[in-house]
Amino acid sequence: MATRRSSRPSDADLQWASRYLSAAEETLLSTMTGDDQAHVIRVARRVDASVAVSDPLLGPERRWMIAAALMHDVGKAEAPLGPLGRSAVTVIVWLGGGRVARRYVDRSGRLGRAARYATYPELGASLLTQAGSDARVAAWSREHHLPMSSWSIPPPAGEVLSRADDLG
Ligand SMILES: [Fe+2]
Ligand SMILES: [Fe+2]
Repeated sequence: MATRRSSRPSDADLQWASRYLSAAEETLLSTMTGDDQAHVIRVARRVDASVAVSDPLLGPERRWMIAAALMHDVGKAEAPLGPLGRSAVTVIVWLGGGRVARRYVDRSGRLGRAARYATYPELGASLLTQAGSDARVAAWSREHHLPMSSWSIPPPAGEVLSRADDLG
């Protein structure tokens, strides 16, 4: 039976990531699971590789785009669920249950674990706003699962970020 190997970013990867993050954002990155950290660093390295510094349109946007890639899934740290739970919630959200999940508030007014996972893009955006991140970095956390028509960030930047995320 195949076992799933969990990945962790290397020290070199973390050092590379820290060049694009504030101290507060680095702390947020460290709260994510090893798998999630490895994923966001892979996404950020793809963004780094696909946008040339000399690109007239996106070259000047590179820094915040790489930070946005590193931070886009940070809300997951607030919603710790195992891989099976994550898959279940992903399917529910895919089927249109996001709005329903948002109503899963417990009696004390707090979101349950599954609902927190379903709303992690928004949780991430709040964490990033509190951390004083660039507004576009917080926006991409909120918007990265939404259709392009709902993006507030420039579509060419969102397309690069989205494509890099889709590769896993
Ligand atoms: Fe995501
Ligand atoms: Fe992602």
